This record gives sequence, structure tokens and C-alpha cells, in this order.
Amino acid sequence: MKRPIKNHVSWIGKIDWELRKFHGDEYSTHRGSTYNSYLIEEEKVAVIDTVWAPFAKEYVARLEQQIDLKKIDFVIANHAEIDHSGALPELMSRIPDTPIYCTANGIKSLKGHYHKDWNFHPVKTGERLSLGGKELIFIEAPMLHWPDSMFSYLTGDNILFSNDAFGQHYASELMFNDLVDQAELMEECIKYYANILTPFSELVMKKVQEVLAFNLPVDIICTSHGVIWRDKPVRIVQQYLKWADSYQEDQITLVYDTMWNGTRVMAENIAQGIKQADPRVNLKLYNLAKSDRNDVMTEIFKSRAILVGSPTINRGVLTSIAALLEEMKGLKFRNKKAAAFGCYGWSGESVKIIRGQLEAARFQVIDDGLRCLWNPDLKSIESCVEYGGKLAGLLK
Ligand code: FEO
Repeated sequence: MKRPIKNHVSWIGKIDWELRKFHGDEYSTHRGSTYNSYLIEEEKVAVIDTVWAPFAKEYVARLEQQIDLKKIDFVIANHAEIDHSGALPELMSRIPDTPIYCTANGIKSLKGHYHKDWNFHPVKTGERLSLGGKELIFIEAPMLHWPDSMFSYLTGDNILFSNDAFGQHYASELMFNDLVDQAELMEECIKYYANILTPFSELVMKKVQEVLAFNLPVDIICTSHGVIWRDKPVRIVQQYLKWADSYQEDQITLVYDTMWNGTRVMAENIAQGIKQADPRVNLKLYNLAKSDRNDVMTEIFKSRAILVGSPTINRGVLTSIAALLEEMKGLKFRNKKAAAFGCYGWSGESVKIIRGQLEAARFQVIDDGLRCLWNPDLKSIESCVEYGGKLAGLLK
């Protein structure tokens, strides 16, 4: 169903209520997602992005009920990733000669995915496409989220089609930012930024400044996932600038895994020591094996410091912690302190390994960490509390 946004601009996407994992199994989507596609029916007709491949037939069939497909003059592919381009083969099979506007990298990517030689028109920042009275202006946005990404801006209606930027994995029939639950919305926005956009924070900063420098009025931001920002869209832009600027709150997060509870007991007692010395800090503990990794990553993004704990197993660390450390290297968090802890029975390498991985992930590791031989006894528990007290000062 076509849903009106403004004047001759409509939403023609798909709400995916069932989605629980995205990017393969890499990103949890507790609240589903949407693949937003837009139809602009000015003198010329343009479709902006499509939907994920499983919904391709449904998407084209629904679109056909709204408009004679032959009336589509332009297809705009702001981003070639499959969640937005997945219905292109189905759509283009019906209108094979229709030009597709995208970046040069977009052409490479679309050809790589679909092996089709469609009627591609590469565009660069500042190029314009006339729709009659109104124009689309293209703005390349590499790494937001892939090297091929771009934004499109519709003059007259002052709509920025930002694709992945400013999006969230959030299914809602309410569709607009002013109508949905604000706490849920911001939870999904920060999770999306923390897990997807953090590595590109410098580019986010530059791109936002660049778009602001164009001095284009932006009344609405139409993202490719989640809500459309029509109420004070500048707020999410300002929020992105904050998140991109080495964001942190007064929070310390302890993330651990444990086999026989020794490392859990360490975590809880270190936390107690921190709390006694710094009662105001927001302290959170996660057994990673029992938690959602993306949600924990969001908590790490919000933290000024983290403690990572694992017992030693086979001269290494438990697999949940190994995966976390690997992912953190790619996410490139900035301006965060860290320390390591863990129990051991024999060789005891885990703390040293965690420390090294935290350094590789650009955390400022503040000391050698704390190890505990066997299951913590009363003396060890006291040393954990003491260690927490010491950390509370060092982690400021
Ligand atoms: Fe929503 Fe980078 O795709």
C-alpha cells in the first residue's frame, strides 16, 4: 500500500515484523525492521531504493497496483546492499530499459550482486536530476554505510533520502518519528549507530558537516530503515554528531563469561568495589554467553570504561569473549578505558590475552588486570573488591 509522506512523495516499502537477525546472524533485531522504498510522482516519476529480496515479488506486485510500472522514469539506488536492492531484479525485469542512478561504486556493487548490465547512470555529489519542477540532488556518502552509499535530496519538498544513515531496525505501522514510542526509538537508534556506524564516526562527522554546509532546508529525512523523521529532523542529525564524537556516558560495563562461576564472582565483587568508591557511576554487568551481543555492544558504546573477564580455557579465552574482542577491533571505539580479569586453574593466560586484544581494539588498558587462582575464596573476593575500588579512580 502506498502511504503518503508529502505532496507527491509516498512510502512504498515493506515492514518486516518477523525479522530477528540481520546481516546474516550478526545483528539482532528484536523489534523487526523496515525496508523503506519511496515513490515520487512529479512530472517525472522516480522510485528510490527497493526492498530485501524475499519481498521482491510482493513489492513489485503492490507497486503495480499503485502505478503503471512503465510510467517509472528513473530508479534511484542510494545503496546497493541487498536489503535495498533486493527487488531490483524483479522490478527491472518489468522495466529493463529504465535508467538506474547510483554512484560509480553502486554500479560495481549492483553488477557484482546481480550480474546484469542495466541502464546505469553514475552520479557524483552535486549532480541534479530534473523531475519536472522539482529536482533530485545527489550527495555521495561513502561508508554510510558502504563505499557505494549516497543520499538524494528532493528540492521543493525539502526531503533528504538518507538511506542507512539515521535509520533504525524498528518495525512500526506508525511510520513517523513523532508517533512512535520515543524510548523504543532511541534505543534502536543508538544500537544501530553503535553496532553499524561506529567505525565510520569520522566520516559521519565530515558528511554531516558537508550536508549542513550546502544550506539545503531539510523538512523530512526519509531513511531506508525504521521511522521517517518529520518532526524536528535536525535532532537526529545533532544526535549523530554527538555519537560520532567519541561518545560516552558515566557508565562502566563489566562483560564476562564463566564456566564454574569463578569469573562471575570476580565480576560481581569488582563491581561492588567500584560502586563503593564511585556510587554515582552507572554500573552494568553482562554474562555475554547469556546476553545479546549487539545489546552488550551498545552498552559498551555508552560506557567510559569496560572490564572484560574470562577464565582460561585451552590457554585461551571462552568463545563468547573471543568473538566480542574480535568484533570490537572492527568497531574502533574511541576514548574508552579498559581492564581485564579472570579465573584460572593451570596456565592462566586469559587476562593477558584479553589485555592484548583490548589494546588492539584501541582501548586504553589501565593495568595488568586481575587473575584469581581456582574458585575465589574469601581472600580473593576481598582482593576483587579492593581492585574495584582502585579501578574506580583509574577509570575516570
Ligand atoms: Fe540497510 Fe547497508 O544496508
